This record gives sequence, structure tokens and C-alpha cells, in this order.
Amino acid sequence: MVEAQTARRRIAAVAGIVALGICLSATVVVVARTAGSDEAAAKPVASASNLAAEDSDVLSEEQARARDRAKLAAERARILGLQPPAPADEVAPAPAIPVTGDVDCSVLKCVALTFDDGPGAQTSQVLAALAEYNAVATWFPLGEMIADNPDALRAIAAAGHEIGNHSWSHPQLTALRERDVNRQITRTADLIAEVTGVRPTLVRPPYGSVSRRVNGELARLQAPIILWDVDPLDWRYQNTDRVHRSVVRQTKPGSIVLMHDIHRTTVAAVPRILRSLAHRGYTFVTVSQLYGNSLQPGRAYTDRRADLGR
Ligand code: NI
Repeated sequence: MVEAQTARRRIAAVAGIVALGICLSATVVVVARTAGSDEAAAKPVASASNLAAEDSDVLSEEQARARDRAKLAAERARILGLQPPAPADEVAPAPAIPVTGDVDCSVLKCVALTFDDGPGAQTSQVLAALAEYNAVATWFPLGEMIADNPDALRAIAAAGHEIGNHSWSHPQLTALRERDVNRQITRTADLIAEVTGVRPTLVRPPYGSVSRRVNGELARLQAPIILWDVDPLDWRYQNTDRVHRSVVRQTKPGSIVLMHDIHRTTVAAVPRILRSLAHRGYTFVTVSQLYGNSLQPGRAYTDRRADLGR
């Protein structure tokens, strides 16, 4: 009886020691994992370029595990028919973007999306996509299009976007007499003021066509001249994939992106462009915000870095 009790106690003691051992080693594993993930979290987010370089380099254990986890998640999403998750360099959260007010684009990665030649029948779709990302943009409408779609222009203004002036009927301003340049710009500005209650100052000359004479006339009209550095040629290549790819590839901090919201293919590309650029850490601003409200009449602007050196 005594022997049996002793044996049971021994068995219980051994079982206790084994259990304790299992607990301790599990704890060690948990601690090690936690330390590992802290270290990973402290590492700067890899950029697209050095991610590509890492593919060919020897990966650390943590990097290899992260890569495998991402592959697994992508495979799971594919099987479930879900959108695959963005690669590691794309998971930065979309920044909170103030629709109005000051944005410091010397610190933030800013981009100014601009839409020319409208407003059109599909402008409301662009507005909906921008609203989803709390993004603002700049429109350069034509007077004759506003006359046909005043409500579309009102909707743009009501959503807090910036409105510039792209002339009345899209002529090459360099081919016009100064008085006709003046008429193209003034007539459009009058209509925009009448429809929205705000008189535009920014002018985008059709075709980006400028000359000393045109610039002089625009300076007299107190108009900064807004050109661009990113052009997907969306009017020529009416292909959504191509427009999306081209914009994302060309955009750098401080870019001004030229698009046309009168093309169905461009309108379809806008949500994808917003998603890709937001994941790359861009803040969507108006042209005036991009330059900290420092635009000068008669001066031409293409992108913030080239114009301000930062
Ligand atoms: Ni145009």
C-alpha cells in the first residue's frame, strides 16, 4: 500500500517536472519569437528597389519567414478569390489627408492629380473614388464643357477640390493674338466664378503650349501656369492598365499628374492609381497645396522638386 502510494507520488513528481519542462521551453520559444518580431518591426520598411535586391541576396531567417508568410497569405487569398494582399512595401497605411488646409509637402510625399478637358459625364465617378481615399485633386475644365455640365463643376467645388482654367475651347494659345488669349481665359474664369462662386487663378494652357508672349498675358491675368511632369498619354492609349502603370511608374514626390476625366479608361484607372500611390505613402494634394500656396502669376510649374529644389 505504502509502496503503491510512493510509486504514484514518484509518477506524479516526474509528470510535474516534465510538464514544467514543456512549459519552460514553450515560454522560451514564445520569448524568442517575440524578440524576433520586435526586431523585425524595428527595421525600416523595405522600399520596392531594395526588396528587389533582397530577392537575389541571402535572406535572414526572419526575412525568409516573412516572405513565406506573405506567399502563404497570397495563396490563401487567391484560393478564396480575394484580392491578394499588397507586397510588404505596399502595406503602409494610407495617410490621413486633410481635404482642406495646409499640408507640408517639403516633409510629406505629395502628389497632385489633375484632370483636364472636362467636366464630363463620368466626373462623378472620379469624385467618388477620390472621396474614398479622402483625396483632393485639381481640375482644369474647359468653358464650353462647363456650359454643358454646370452641375458637374458644382459637385467638384462642393467636394473641396481645386478648380483651375483650361481655356474656353482648347485652342493653342501661342497661335492666338493676346486679346484672344485674354478672352479664352477670362470668359472661362467668369463662368467658373458664376457656377462655383470662386474665381480660378491657375491656368493650364491647352497642350502645355506656352511662349513668352502667352506667359506675359497670363501674368497680366494674375495666373500661375500649371504644367505637369507625369503624362500617361491617356488620350492616346485608352487602356486602363497602361494608364495605371504609367502613372505609378512615373510619379515621384512632388509630381503633377496629367489625366483627362473625359475618357472612360482613365476614369476606371483612378481608383487603382489612388490605391497604388496611397500604399506607396503618397498624400494627394491640390496644386496650390503642393506649392504651399506660394504660386506666382506668369510663372510655369511642372513639379515641386524641379521648381523649388525639394
Ligand atoms: Ni487639354
